[in-house]
Amino acid sequence: MPQNSPNKKLENVKTVYTFWGRCPLLYRAQDQITFLGRAKIIRSRAIKMIGLKKGNKVLEVACGSGRNFPYLVEAIGRNGLILGFDYSQEMLDSAEKWCERNDWETIKLVHGDAAFLNINETNFDGVVSVLGMSAIPGWKDALQRCHDVLRPGGKLVVCDARLFSGLLKILNPLVKAIYSTLAAWDPSKNIPETMNEVFGNVKLEKFNGGTFFIAVSVKKSGKSGKNTG
Ligand SMILES: C[S@@+](CC[C@H](N)C(=O)[O-])C[C@H]1O[C@@H](n2cnc3c(N)ncnc32)[C@H](O)[C@@H]1O
Repeated sequence: MPQNSPNKKLENVKTVYTFWGRCPLLYRAQDQITFLGRAKIIRSRAIKMIGLKKGNKVLEVACGSGRNFPYLVEAIGRNGLILGFDYSQEMLDSAEKWCERNDWETIKLVHGDAAFLNINETNFDGVVSVLGMSAIPGWKDALQRCHDVLRPGGKLVVCDARLFSGLLKILNPLVKAIYSTLAAWDPSKNIPETMNEVFGNVKLEKFNGGTFFIAVSVKKSGKSGKNTG
């Protein structure tokens, strides 16, 4: 098996997130470092950009331990559906405990690889992924599946991290080494560009000096999203 084959990468995802799933407090602490102290602002902004209404149905791809659930629950209320999907059973176990503590009964959790996104539900009002696409080995297939399960007019919101530009570029080798090892992060992916290819549209907002972005694509009507009018 080649070193960087998707299977090897998935194995790495499993190893890395087994650790984080078992250490939820540590994950919360590193979250603040990753977002440079702005986790709440950026996460709530990402969820707001889906444009959810009460009672809507939303999918979170690579939901992890559920850091976005409070914002999603607030957006859809207690009557909608939040489907959290992740490859790490340990992250999902941690998410489940948090749901139980908060009585979030509208949240369902599904285990699997986002490249296949084997779920029964379709016609989601929104799909979101925060720091997920940069870790998912089959991310291009995952973006296509996100498109497929949205209703026409539904939005995909991807919030993710990038390397520094400008003077702080000097830190990039260190940042890349740390986050690729500890978070299976691959900053070489051009996620907004692929969203544009799949959906035929994308809008971008940048945060933290360009090291974070929120990209939004809207599903057009028609069979394929690939530049259909
Ligand atoms: C940095 S964490 C982000 C978790 C969460 N979205 C958050 O905002 O805290 C990346 C997540 O991507 C998940 N992941 C990586 N590859 C995946 C795949 N192929 N399918 C589904 N989830 C995947 C990991 O298990 C992990 O929970």
